[in-house]
Amino acid sequence: MVEIPVAQIDKEDRDPASLHYPLPFPIRIVAGLIRRIRLRWLLLRHPRLKIGRKTGIWFGDVRFTTKWGEIQIGDECQLISGNLLGRLFIGNRVNVLGAIKLGGSGKYSVTIGDDTWIAPNVYICPSTHKCRERSRTIRQQGLQGGDIRIGSDCWIGVNVVISPGITIGDGAVIGANSVVTKDIPEYAIAVGAPARVIGYRE
Ligand SMILES: CC(C)(COP(=O)(O)OP(=O)(O)OC[C@H]1O[C@@H](n2cnc3c(N)ncnc32)[C@H](O)[C@@H]1OP(=O)(O)O)[C@@H](O)C(=O)NCCC(=O)NCCS
Repeated sequence: MVEIPVAQIDKEDRDPASLHYPLPFPIRIVAGLIRRIRLRWLLLRHPRLKIGRKTGIWFGDVRFTTKWGEIQIGDECQLISGNLLGRLFIGNRVNVLGAIKLGGSGKYSVTIGDDTWIAPNVYICPSTHKCRERSRTIRQQGLQGGDIRIGSDCWIGVNVVISPGITIGDGAVIGANSVVTKDIPEYAIAVGAPARVIGYRE
C-alpha cells in the first residue's frame, strides 16, 4: 500500500480549492472573490447560520435550513455536500463529505465534535416518526426524538444511519452501512445494522 505523507494530506484538507484541478493565478483570485460574495449572501439569507474561519463550502451542493433553529459551524471545516438543518452544532476541522440529512428539526439537536469525518450519504436526524399504533396513521402519531452527540475525532462511514438520542463517544469509528441504535463507547469500532462494537482503536 502507498503511504501518503501526512503533510500532503493536511495541505489538501485545508484548502478546498486544492480538491479541484489547480486554476491559473488570476482565475483563482476571481474564484476566491466569488466565493466570498456567495458566503456573505448565504449569511445574509440565514441570520441564524454561523460559519467559522477558513471553512470551505462547496456552494450548490450544500443546503442550509435554519427556520427550525441555528446552525453553528467551527473553523477549518470542509462541507462538500448535504442538507444541513438547525439545530446543528459542528466543531472545528470537521469534514462533511455528504449528508442526506444532518441536523435537527427544532426541538432536538445534533452536535459534532472537532476533527470528525462524516462520509457520504449519511443520515443523522434527531427526530423520527412514531409508528407503533395500528389505529392511527403514522402521520397522526407524530414525531419522537432525542439529541444526537457525536464526539471528537470520530469517523462516520458511508451510508450510516444514526438513530435519535444516540451518543457516539470521542474517537469512535462507525463502519460503512451501519445503523446505530445504541450509544457507542469512546474509541470503539462498531459495524452492522444494528451496529455492534467489534473492537477498539489501539
Ligand atoms: C469499520 C472499518 C473501519 C473496519 O476496518 P478494520 O478495522 O480494518 O476491520 P476489518 O476490515 O479487519 O474487519 C473486521 C471485521 O469486521 C467486519 N466489518 C468491517 N467493516 C464492516 C462493515 N462496514 N459492516 C459489517 N461488517 C464489517 C469484517 O468483515 C470483519 O469481520 P470478520 O472478523 O468476521 O472477518 C471499515 O470496514 C469501514 O467500514 N470503513 C468505513 C469506510 C468508509 O465509509 N469510507 C468512506 C470514506 S470517508
